Amino acid sequence: MALYALGDLHLSFQSDKSMDKFGKVWRHHDRKIEKYVRQIVKPEDTLVLTGDHSWGRKLADCREDLAFIERFPGRKILLRGNHDMFWDAKKTERLNEEYRGKLFFLQNNFAVYQDYALVGTKGYTFEGPFYLDHQGRIVGWDEQKEEQARKLVEREMARLRSSFSQAREAGYKKFIMFLHYPPTNILEQTSPFTEIAQEYSVTAVVYSHCHGESRFGDSIRGDFQGVRYMLVSGDYLHFHPAAVLP
Ligand SMILES: [Fe+2]
Ligand SMILES: [Fe+2]
Repeated sequence: MALYALGDLHLSFQSDKSMDKFGKVWRHHDRKIEKYVRQIVKPEDTLVLTGDHSWGRKLADCREDLAFIERFPGRKILLRGNHDMFWDAKKTERLNEEYRGKLFFLQNNFAVYQDYALVGTKGYTFEGPFYLDHQGRIVGWDEQKEEQARKLVEREMARLRSSFSQAREAGYKKFIMFLHYPPTNILEQTSPFTEIAQEYSVTAVVYSHCHGESRFGDSIRGDFQGVRYMLVSGDYLHFHPAAVLP
């Protein structure tokens, strides 16, 4: 039995959104996903998909993408990504009712893996715009956008805090924390997300959203303050699910 994670499948079985222009790694990426998930994940395993599942804007336009995920081996847990327009945060319970026994939508709730509580939310990071000098160094940024980002971080933190509390009340002491956005932006060493990870002594923080060689290093990877940080974007992993726990 193992816990795996993979993010950013960016499926488009019902829309003509091709990912090919983003580089070779994205060519026929649905076939790669299918192949590697089936090679790695066993029926007794759990796979957490860390958001940006589908390009469809409405649930009706995502049915085939979700059915593709449903057919993967093991238990599937989904997190909201910034592109998952089909998933209204207020309607998570409705999605969980509709997909009961097939997919679990992680938001304002928690899932259990062995003696771990799996908690997660989309998260948020300020991604600019930044102003650069002629050597490409960041010398300023859009303060209005930064302020907006601060509010979104607060909202996401409230959701995360509620999930941690629910898990703790249910008696869980060990946690894995999932985010779609990276836990810190490129200006930060720490953030409310790294602080809550510390507060709950989480074993690992798993996130995705960063695409392309130049963005993979945007946030923390590896051990930091006793927490393991894992980037699991599909293109970063060449669509091989990463093992979070044995
Ligand atoms: Fe993405
Ligand atoms: Fe994303």
